Amino acid sequence: MNRRTIVAANWKMNGNLNLVEYMAKRLNQVQLGENVEVIVCPSFPYLSAMANQLAHDNIYLGAQNVNVQQSGAFTGEISTSMLQEFAVKYVIVGHSERRSIYHETSVEIADKVKAVLAAKLTPILCIGESLEQRTAEQTEQVLAGQLQPVIDAIGIEKFKDVVIAYEPVWAIGTGKTASPEMAQATHLFIRQFLAANNIDVANKVPLLYGGSVNAQNCEALFAQTDIDGGLLGGASLKVDEFSQICSTVKGS
Ligand code: PGA
Repeated sequence: MNRRTIVAANWKMNGNLNLVEYMAKRLNQVQLGENVEVIVCPSFPYLSAMANQLAHDNIYLGAQNVNVQQSGAFTGEISTSMLQEFAVKYVIVGHSERRSIYHETSVEIADKVKAVLAAKLTPILCIGESLEQRTAEQTEQVLAGQLQPVIDAIGIEKFKDVVIAYEPVWAIGTGKTASPEMAQATHLFIRQFLAANNIDVANKVPLLYGGSVNAQNCEALFAQTDIDGGLLGGASLKVDEFSQICSTVKGS
């Protein structure tokens, strides 16, 4: 099954106009492997500058969050139609920081996935367990509990237009990456969970791994059968390292 390989950059609340310029310049020159896609998700204020400076056929712009409403009295929020005006193609939904710091529930996240799809954008749906949950052997239960509300909200067929990022919370920003074997086993569980609903769709969904991915460990992780690339935080802010990762990743 040939799925595209995706390297996505989640800048979180980091970066500035200088980084936008420097990163865009470098990425515009990167030679990507066949079937490899790169997605850059800077903070909202930088989408416009990034959209103007990125000029590469297989590098796309993503946002880090969105509101389900189209417009109105929602101070501080951003709608899908606003994102569309800046050539945004992807939206990260349900990142663990949104779940833990901003208390977004799996049901609210499912509504966001639905809104993103309705706008013909692609959601990058983040799921993952905490250290306590992994230690208590609840990982599969937690992931199922995060996926099921989305299946209920959009139906399994629409998952063919969704990218999933598995990000164990204990690996995010900690330097502790899941081993390739552990990550593969969890990705396989996710794919089988989707396959129980629809095998064809399950085989099409790109499953990204996230959590302390860097230039040293990305190759072994991305070589796993059910790992179709990564969602990178810290390493995506380093121009040399990120562009090197993008250019060395092999497509499926
Ligand atoms: P990290 O972040 O690569 O810094 O661990 C990944 C993420 O939170 O998406």
